[in-house]
Amino acid sequence: MSTDTDRTPDHSSNTTEVSGVEIVFDEVVKTYPGLQYPAVDRLSITIPAGEIVMFVGPSGCGKTTSLKMINRLLEPTSGTITIDGVDIRKRDDDDLRRHIGFVIQGGSLFPHMTVAQNIAMVPKLLKWDKSRTADRVEELLDLVGLDPGRFRDRFPRELSGGEQQRVGVARGLAADPPVILMDEPFGAVDPITRQRLQDELLTIQEALRKTIVCVTHDIDEAIKLGDRILITEASAKVAQYDTPANILSSPANDFVRDFVGAGSALKTLSLSRVDEVQLYHQSSARVGESLAEVTRRARDHGDRSVILLDRNDRPLDWVWLSDLEGDQIREPRHDRDMLTVSHLATLNDALNSMLVSIHDGVVVTGGNDKYVGVAGFTEVTQLITRKATEAHERETADIARAPSDEELDEQIDEVPDAGSGDDDGDDDDRQRPEGE
Ligand SMILES: Nc1ncnc2c1ncn2[C@@H]1O[C@H](COP(=O)(O)OP(=O)(O)O)[C@@H](O)[C@H]1O
Ligand SMILES: [Mg+2]
Repeated sequence: MSTDTDRTPDHSSNTTEVSGVEIVFDEVVKTYPGLQYPAVDRLSITIPAGEIVMFVGPSGCGKTTSLKMINRLLEPTSGTITIDGVDIRKRDDDDLRRHIGFVIQGGSLFPHMTVAQNIAMVPKLLKWDKSRTADRVEELLDLVGLDPGRFRDRFPRELSGGEQQRVGVARGLAADPPVILMDEPFGAVDPITRQRLQDELLTIQEALRKTIVCVTHDIDEAIKLGDRILITEASAKVAQYDTPANILSSPANDFVRDFVGAGSALKTLSLSRVDEVQLYHQSSARVGESLAEVTRRARDHGDRSVILLDRNDRPLDWVWLSDLEGDQIREPRHDRDMLTVSHLATLNDALNSMLVSIHDGVVVTGGNDKYVGVAGFTEVTQLITRKATEAHERETADIARAPSDEELDEQIDEVPDAGSGDDDGDDDDRQRPEGE
């Protein structure tokens, strides 16, 4: 039985070997015939190996265009993109696409193919043998939280939106590509499913350390998932390219400030993970165990309810002892999913889940969706209060520390040209990411 002492570290400080590779955009331009302005105008950024980089910006600012140039679904008009140091023009298109996973909204599954056939598409192109492909399909379904026995042979129309999206993610991962591109992958699912898919992506990434480039228009999603966030204005002009913490604490300009929106103190809660909550251990019961034994153990521990686990220690339900019948622990009769949160979920996610729970907390899962403990309502709300207070104090301190008008005038005198508006049309001051 796992306990809250064997939890894995959060994704920013993990030591798993990086399997992703670096991607570099150098002065990349894309123009479309008939479009007055470039869709992408001299984009230069470095996407580090093994990180999740989120592209965010208003609709039409060139996010999808930038993404599709990475796997040559679109050709840049000028400029260069390299993957792992190699100019993508030197690679065969098909070869490139087989080594880059691509996940889009809704999963874009082929309706006439089963789940297994959809996932096996790229392995088939790569001529993997049957048993290797079948093993891989099982492994991936498991990874994205779908029971292979139940889902393998279904057709897309027999799946919910969230399930289709999971299959889409599995298909993107199928050939174990070092790079995964995602275009608004969780845009079309309900909020609870979206949260779970986000958590799953973080869990998968914790183990795989791929390079993931993900487009979204949702700043909260970007803050939650990104190691780095690229915020762009029209024509994919870089407004800020930085860590979520830096974007929240030091927005580079008014555009970023407006885009992040109000409540950046509250948004820092999305930087805090369930990992930070002191979990408590609620007694558990595994399917197949003797009821007498489970009851004795729970009572010894002072519990009147238990977390029901499947044979792989995955939570199935949170049940009152008084509702258990028979000699042995049985699977719950209902087929609904239990509401749990990953240890990588944000404090906001945990709070949302608790508000719909009949118990005094939410069940937390770790790697492989195994049960690790319960985040109690009190512990979560106390931590949220503490974080919000800290963030508020930082903001207040920043205002107190801000230079006076006289000090600003002096600084401007010392540095010629600094701070003056530069409206002469040249764009030498175009922003570039630093220190890459
Ligand atoms: N095939 C195309 N032909 C002409 N214009 C296009 C084409 N695809 C996109 N655009 C235009 O290019 C700009 C950037 O589009 P896109 O990259 O899809 O933006 P985003 O994904 O950020 O919403 C938009 O103005 C869009 O209308
Ligand atoms: Mg788009």
